[in-house]
Amino acid sequence: MAEPSRVRDSVAAMVEAVSGTIPVTVKHRIGVDHEDSYGFVRDFVGTVSQGGCETFIVHARSAWLDGLSPKENRDIPPLRPEFILQLRRDFPALAFVLNGGIKTGQQIGEWLPQVSGVMVGRAAYQDPWSLATWDREFLGSADSAAPEREIVEEQMGAYIAAWKAKGLHPQAITRHMLNLWKGQPGGRRWRQVLSDSSLLSTLSVPELFATARRARLSAEGDEAMECNQPSQLGQLGQPLTASACV
Ligand SMILES: Cc1cc2nc3c(=O)[nH]c(=O)nc-3n(C[C@H](O)[C@H](O)[C@H](O)COP(=O)(O)O)c2cc1C
Repeated sequence: MAEPSRVRDSVAAMVEAVSGTIPVTVKHRIGVDHEDSYGFVRDFVGTVSQGGCETFIVHARSAWLDGLSPKENRDIPPLRPEFILQLRRDFPALAFVLNGGIKTGQQIGEWLPQVSGVMVGRAAYQDPWSLATWDREFLGSADSAAPEREIVEEQMGAYIAAWKAKGLHPQAITRHMLNLWKGQPGGRRWRQVLSDSSLLSTLSVPELFATARRARLSAEGDEAMECNQPSQLGQLGQPLTASACV
């Protein structure tokens, strides 16, 4: 962001390289360190749009490069979503997607009429099932039923198996889906199976998911009894003793 003309030139090169087949978008913050006035981000967008970018995904806080870690930079600099509303007014031909601190469907519903889109980061990762109804609620999907977690598991299993056949370790994918059953009975046990490096290395993908499923279902049954017990992985192929604090 400190060098808008460099970003503009990079965008122009990408736009030329893809010959209009896909949009080139830019995700950015509203400022860098002490450069945090509205005029700074306005000028950035004005310059970069000259390179051919028409959609800007704006994480509505500054980046404090001097003194904050990347993690702290996602929480500490204050959110200024009003900057995005002003950008919309100043650049009516461009699209602006709001990002930063959006956690609930209610927040999405409040923001969507005011911006071109809403991007959800950590909340989507931490509780992916919260997204299950959003297609219907916000994107006009005709599907009347939310998907089932089991169906997602099945499809992810096929996806992981295909990548495993190409040499990828399943954990590279399973580590990003550990919250699929978050908040559900047995969800913790399911997660433990899917993150167990020994099981991940020795079981086939269908066996792995079958083991995780058994663990989840057995935990569902005796949740109250087991809640404070340390977890124990069972023998391969055997029902698992489970603790079920989710
Ligand atoms: C683990 C992690 C990795 C991230 N990696 C990227 C990245 O590579 N590129 C990027 O533009 N933003 C990245 N982000 C930032 C998010 O896209 C998003 O801007 C940020 O988390 C704020 O949105 P949120 O409050 O909805 O989480 C990352 C965030 C996290 C938590």
